[in-house]
Amino acid sequence: MRLRRKYCYNNRVMNLAHRMEQHLPRQLLELIKYISEQAARNEQRVYLVGGIVRDLLLEDPSLRSGPLDSGLRFDIDLTVEGDAVRLAQQVADTGKAKLLAHHRFGTAKLRYENLALDMATARKETYARPGALPAVTPGTLKNDLIRRDFSINAMAISLSSNDYGELVDPYQGKSDLERHLIRVLHPESFSDDATRILRAVRYEQRLGFELETQTARLLKRNTAMLDTISGDRIRHELELVFREEQPELAIRRLAKLGVLQRISPCLKGDGWITERFDRARRLKKPTQLPSLYFCLLIYAFGEGELEQFLGRLNMPAKLSHAMRDTLRLKNTLWLLDTASLKPSEIYHLLHEYAPLATEANAIASASSPAQRHLQLFLTKLRYVKASLNGEELKRLGISPGPEMGEILQRLHRAKLDGEVRTKADEERLALSLSLEL
Ligand code: CTP
Repeated sequence: MRLRRKYCYNNRVMNLAHRMEQHLPRQLLELIKYISEQAARNEQRVYLVGGIVRDLLLEDPSLRSGPLDSGLRFDIDLTVEGDAVRLAQQVADTGKAKLLAHHRFGTAKLRYENLALDMATARKETYARPGALPAVTPGTLKNDLIRRDFSINAMAISLSSNDYGELVDPYQGKSDLERHLIRVLHPESFSDDATRILRAVRYEQRLGFELETQTARLLKRNTAMLDTISGDRIRHELELVFREEQPELAIRRLAKLGVLQRISPCLKGDGWITERFDRARRLKKPTQLPSLYFCLLIYAFGEGELEQFLGRLNMPAKLSHAMRDTLRLKNTLWLLDTASLKPSEIYHLLHEYAPLATEANAIASASSPAQRHLQLFLTKLRYVKASLNGEELKRLGISPGPEMGEILQRLHRAKLDGEVRTKADEERLALSLSLEL
């Protein structure tokens, strides 16, 4: 009772059990109920926390499954006052879940087919120095909520049987949701964890909210703290931005706030980005978009600037290669400007570049003949293969060696240019070439 009075908002406790019934999938609700019963047997209290609470209050839990999740996939966070790993083990024993436990951190992940449950022991965090990972000790729910990024993410829903569904909102998150504000919980929030600078803008733009005045001031004052964040973490946050429905909104806002330039002085968020990101979305599946957005983001870079950016973000080799190819291809794009190029010439100019680089250039290029050629390559030419291979040429009496290599190339070119259509056409051409060479 004491706990309940402490957490109530405007002296009125809000119960979200009905909303949970309405918006959460049955399988998840049954699991939650089971977890709640098990926690009661252990004399533990368990809470739904984080984004799901925010999205239930907004009555839009579909926000949980972003554009990358076409199927219904729910990622849910639970906080346990008590031992979360023990509770997770008990739950895993009775179902078809995969369990991944970290005893040291008091956390466990339960993975079901369309569902992932992160269970964490309520904790208290202290930061030894800005940007460092925090020191963690067990704590109360309230300790656990105050260490979070923003008030709208620092609410919980009780899953205990005596107050099932009740909102726990010690830091006025619901009021900030109603006022459309992103607000940090304490002045050191951004310096403790500067990834929150990117997160703040991501939520602000996703939800159409505003940074609360003091939060905006703190964000600007702490922008330099981004230098304390590792490349992997910055990259991860940018990937999260790129999974938003309209990432250009956050990119433009980050540029306006001077945050983007702190990551790399050459980054820009302008009308060009908006237009190109929008075009990218019309051409690609959502899962393929983040890598493509990265290639578009660096399109105006010079080679040296790109190398600095790749180093700063500790970019993985494959994507680095595609981003380098994007600029290499951009610099030779003028070769594709001639309207009368043959398909085999287009193929020759493009086949060595990473497909992502060709896609980025098809979206970014301003010249329409080049764009047309890039599209033709992407949709058709790159898939064209000659029907005959080396084995079949051998059967026609052509011996392996450089000559055969030349014949195979000439067959491929002829196929690309529509000079041969059937296998018989190719056989005739191969035999006549073998006499000629
Ligand atoms: N969190 C935090 N500081 C961070 C990252 C996360 O305080 N730098 C907390 C927030 O309370 C957040 C929760 O951890 O709500 C879970 O983080 P995450 O899964 O990244 O976000 P969601 O809240 O689930 O929101 P969404 O997935 O919709 O972005």
